[in-house]
Amino acid sequence: EDSQKEQWYVGSIDQGTTSSRFLIFNGDGEPVASHQIEFKNLYPKSGWHEHDPHELVDSVEKCIEGAMKQFVEKGHSKSDVRCIGLTNQRETTVVWDSKTGEPLYNAIVWPDTRTNSIVRELKGRDGAESITDLCGLPLSTYPSSVKLMWLLENVESVKQAYQENRLAFGTVDSWLIYQLNGGAKAEKPVHVTDSTNASRTMFVNLHDLQYDDKLLGFFGIDKFKVQLPKIVPSSDSEAFGKLANGPLADVPITGCLGDQSSALVGQCGFKPGQAKNTYGTGCFLLYNVGEEPVISKHGLLSTVAYDFGRGQKPVYALEGSIAVAGSGVKFLQNNLGFIKDSSEVSTLAETVSDSGGVVFVTAFSGLFAPYWIDDAKGTLFGVTQHTNKGHIARATLEATCFQTRAILQAMEKDSGQKLESLAVDGGLSASDLTMQTQADITGIPVNRPGMRETTALGAAIAAGLATGVWRKLDELNEVNQVGRTVFEPQMDKEIAEKMFKRWEKAVEMSRGWMHED
Ligand code: G3P
Repeated sequence: EDSQKEQWYVGSIDQGTTSSRFLIFNGDGEPVASHQIEFKNLYPKSGWHEHDPHELVDSVEKCIEGAMKQFVEKGHSKSDVRCIGLTNQRETTVVWDSKTGEPLYNAIVWPDTRTNSIVRELKGRDGAESITDLCGLPLSTYPSSVKLMWLLENVESVKQAYQENRLAFGTVDSWLIYQLNGGAKAEKPVHVTDSTNASRTMFVNLHDLQYDDKLLGFFGIDKFKVQLPKIVPSSDSEAFGKLANGPLADVPITGCLGDQSSALVGQCGFKPGQAKNTYGTGCFLLYNVGEEPVISKHGLLSTVAYDFGRGQKPVYALEGSIAVAGSGVKFLQNNLGFIKDSSEVSTLAETVSDSGGVVFVTAFSGLFAPYWIDDAKGTLFGVTQHTNKGHIARATLEATCFQTRAILQAMEKDSGQKLESLAVDGGLSASDLTMQTQADITGIPVNRPGMRETTALGAAIAAGLATGVWRKLDELNEVNQVGRTVFEPQMDKEIAEKMFKRWEKAVEMSRGWMHED
């Protein structure tokens, strides 16, 4: 039976760490309209990182308006949009009052390190060793669990709501879906999350995808006092409700995936052994391991890749999470004033032929995979009178490439397989210099698709699969195949090896700088 893909369009909300977007895809997976808005990242203290939850919702609503205007100008109408997918920055934690729908604090964003001392204390608790086997994540400042603990310990209104059973918890997907459905005023408020986002909280047993009493107990969370979102598959025709307002009012949300899972789906990484690396605010490598989770022994995370429901088993991934990629470029722009726009970074880095011996361990949030050094701080090595902005820009881009190599090595050890080429996407993948450097440092080809909005595409696919826009994964084989660029490794292997050794030494030296708590 022929699918409906010719006739329908699918909307996709992509709510990331630095910007929100809304794209509308046709049945061939091509974007036909889009709108993007950057919103405020708040850093109220060293190591703190927040978003205003209302601003997240507003930016999404404005993006929908902007893209719909374009869509209509191109001769389409609202009724052509069959359904909407949603993808989001993961782990970022929002708490709100379930009676009023009002947030009780700013969203605590995933790279925030205010929970450093909580994590140190948790590592000493009974049962700490067995936590990772249950949920797939190591104890660190990264997941939502420790962020909720901090809120319960430090914010009076949160404590009170908890005592009075009106504390609602959610990651950004839950918060947006709740608000887009009309919030507390909706006839039936919608408080859900999908399996991929749920797997980032540290409250969920990775094997059965249910909240786990042992995990909740470990973090001291009483499930009768906090309202946790209901966990549902990533593709579902009813669970996520529909838009209450705006130009797409009444159109159903039928797909939801954490952004890194979504990028894997958008790259059609449906087979075990397929992987992708997304260079966004951070950089995240996901490697499809199939229907059984693999718990890493080498510093990677185990996570849900996607869960399409309707009787199909969830698919798992090994993940290497790097906290700083695009945010390193933003640092050069906003904090050091080296460039006026992120897009200028490659040109600046190209003013020099190498980093001139500079290594920049961009550990602004400690170091994530595969190192997990909570107390590392950003550290510049090898600076001399010869050093200029170009060298530092180059070292900033190289940092993500080095960390990707360390992750690939860990992945090889965990899976026993060597990756033969690296599929990439995300904002910074537009930089030819960065992608060539990545190929040089890892020694494998880097494969970049023509259309790099794969994160948004993934959520559209999840949504379209729930509504018959696409009926099976095979129909997606042709999606986004044109305009690919392959970067072949060109650097002498020995030089790459030397550079990587220097990076590893710098990582060791970035440990333990200034314990302030
Ligand atoms: O885990 C955090 C991740 O989901 C954020 O993604 O693209 O905003 O860096 P991004």
